[in-house]
Amino acid sequence: MPSPTLLLFSLISLFGHCYAYTTTLSLSPTAVAPPPTTNPWQRLNHLATASATRAHQLKHPKTNISTTKVPLFPRGYGGYSISLRLGTPPQTLSFVMDTGSSLVWSPCTHRYSCSSCNFVNVNSANISTFIPKSSSSSKIVGCKNPKCNWVFPNAHCTNCTKNSATCTEACPPYIIQYGSGSTTGLLLSETLTFPKKTVNNFMFGCSLFSSRQPSGIAGFGRGPESLPVQMGLKKFSYCLVSHRFDDAPVSSDLVLVSGGGGAATAGISYTPFRKNPISSDPTFQDYYYVTLRKITVGGVNVKAPYKFLVADSDGNGGTIVDSGTTFSFMESKIFELVAEEFEKQVGKIYSRAREVENESGLRPCFNVSGENSVILPQLIFHFKGGAKMVLPLGDYFSFLDESVICMTIVSGNGSGGGSGVGPGPAIILGNYQQQNLYIEYDLENEKLGFKKQLCK
Ligand SMILES: *[C@@H]1O[C@H](CO)[C@@H](O)[C@H](O)[C@H]1NC(C)=O
Ligand SMILES: *[C@@H]1O[C@H](CO)[C@@H](O)[C@H](O)[C@H]1NC(C)=O
Ligand SMILES: *[C@@H]1O[C@H](CO)[C@@H](O)[C@H](O)[C@H]1NC(C)=O
Ligand SMILES: *[C@@H]1O[C@H](CO)[C@@H](O)[C@H](O)[C@H]1NC(C)=O
Ligand SMILES: *[C@@H]1O[C@H](CO)[C@@H](O)[C@H](O)[C@H]1NC(C)=O
Ligand SMILES: *[C@@H]1O[C@H](CO)[C@@H](O)[C@H](O)[C@H]1NC(C)=O
Repeated sequence: MPSPTLLLFSLISLFGHCYAYTTTLSLSPTAVAPPPTTNPWQRLNHLATASATRAHQLKHPKTNISTTKVPLFPRGYGGYSISLRLGTPPQTLSFVMDTGSSLVWSPCTHRYSCSSCNFVNVNSANISTFIPKSSSSSKIVGCKNPKCNWVFPNAHCTNCTKNSATCTEACPPYIIQYGSGSTTGLLLSETLTFPKKTVNNFMFGCSLFSSRQPSGIAGFGRGPESLPVQMGLKKFSYCLVSHRFDDAPVSSDLVLVSGGGGAATAGISYTPFRKNPISSDPTFQDYYYVTLRKITVGGVNVKAPYKFLVADSDGNGGTIVDSGTTFSFMESKIFELVAEEFEKQVGKIYSRAREVENESGLRPCFNVSGENSVILPQLIFHFKGGAKMVLPLGDYFSFLDESVICMTIVSGNGSGGGSGVGPGPAIILGNYQQQNLYIEYDLENEKLGFKKQLCK
C-alpha cells in the first residue's frame, strides 16, 4: 500500500484542481403558490387552505413521509448489494449494504487496484469504479470542511493554520480496516441521486486501493458519515431474501424513510438500541447495539453469562446487528453453550456428520439423509423489552448437500475461549440470521424492530 501522502497527491493530480468548499442552508417558509384566479374570495379560500395544511403539518409532522425504495440483492460473496447513483451525470455503482460500518466509499478512478478481490461471481478486473473526472459535481472535501472531522475528529490542516479562508488543503486520506480487508482513498463531495430525490454535497470515499472487497461499501452505521445520517433518515428497513437466490435477479426493497417515522408497522416487536459506553475504540459507538437478555434452544435457556450479552464499561462484549456479516459470530464461550445444546437435543434424532464439520469449519452438522422433513429445536433471541426474535429454521441450519445440515453460526478462536470477553461485540447478528425477517432501524425512536416475514 502506498503512503497516504502519495495517495493524496496522486488523487489531486487526477483532479487537477482543488475546490474551496462551502455548505449553504436555506430556510424557506411553506411555499404558497399564487392562486390561479384574481377572485378575492377564492384567494382567501386558498390562503385558508394553505394555513390549515400547514397547521396540520405542524401538529402531525409524522404524516409527511418521504419514502425511497432501493432494490437489495443477495450476493454470493455473502452480503447484500444496492446500486447508488453518484455524480453529474449520475454513474451507477454497486455497494455492499453494511450496517456495521459508516463510511460510504466506492472503487474510484481508472487506477483503482484491489488485491484478493476475486469472489463468487465477482472478478477484480471488472469491479465498477466511479470516475470523478466525468462528473461536473465532484469536489474534494477540504481539510477545513467540518465533514472532514466526521472521519478525522482531530484533523490538523498543517498548511492552513493562519488563513483558513483560502485553505486548499484536502482532508487527509482515510484508511479503513474491516474484519477482513481494507480500503484507502480521499473524501469527495458529490450529488447522490434517487428516482425522486437528490442529495447534494453527499460525502463519500473515493478509494484507490483496497483488499478483499467485492465492491464499494455503503455504510449504514451510526457515524455522522453514514448514508442514513447524511440523508437525515428517520428510519430504514429491509427484508433480506434467502441466500438461495444469491446472484439471481431477485431482490427486495431497502426502504429509506425521511420526514417522519410514519405509522408503526403491524405485528412488529421492538427493542431499544443501546449506546455503547465510551471505549478504547470509538468505532464501537457506530454499531447498532441491542440488549440481548437470553438465548433459548428448544425452550432451554443456554445461560449465556451477562458480561457477554451486554457491553461492559470498557465497551467490550454486547450484541450488535450487522448486515455486512454473513454468519453470526459468537464469542466461543457463548458459541459452545449454543452448539452443545443443539448437539444434545438434535443428537438424539440425527447422527453427527463429523467429517463434514472438519471440512466445512461449521459445527454441529447432522446427517439427515433419507428424511422427508427435518425437525429442529427453535432458536430464539430474547431482547430487552420482551421482544423475541424467533429465527426461521433456514436462518440457523443450512443444507451443505442434500443429506447434511450444519449450524450457520461461527465462533471466535482462542482468546475468547476462557472466561474473558475479547475486545468489541461478543455477539454479531449477521445477515444469515436476518433472512426472511422484516427488520427496521428506527433511528428517530432509537429502537430496532423485527418480525417474521417471507421476503420473496
Ligand atoms: C411534505 O414535505 C415536502 C418538503 O419536505 C413538501 O414539498 C410537501 O408538500 C409536503 N407534503 C405534505 C402533504 O405536506
Ligand atoms: C466480469 O468478468 C467475469 C469473468 O471475466 C465475467 O464473467 C463477468 O460477466 C464480468 N462482469 C461484468 C459486469 O462485466
Ligand atoms: C504543506 O506545504 C509544504 C510546503 O509547501 C509541502 O511540502 C507539504 O506537502 C504540504 N502538506 C500538505 C498536507 O499539503
Ligand atoms: C476431525 O479432525 C480431527 C482433528 O483435526 C481429527 O482428530 C478427527 O479424526 C477428524 N474426524 C473425522 C471424522 O474426520
Ligand atoms: C449419512 O448417512 C447415510 C446412511 O445413513 C450414509 O450412507 C451417508 O454416507 C452419510 N453421509 C455423511 C456425509 O455422513
Ligand atoms: C485458531 O487460531 C490459530 C492460531 O491463531 C490457528 O492456527 C487456527 O487454525 C485457528 N483455528 C480456527 C478454527 O480458525
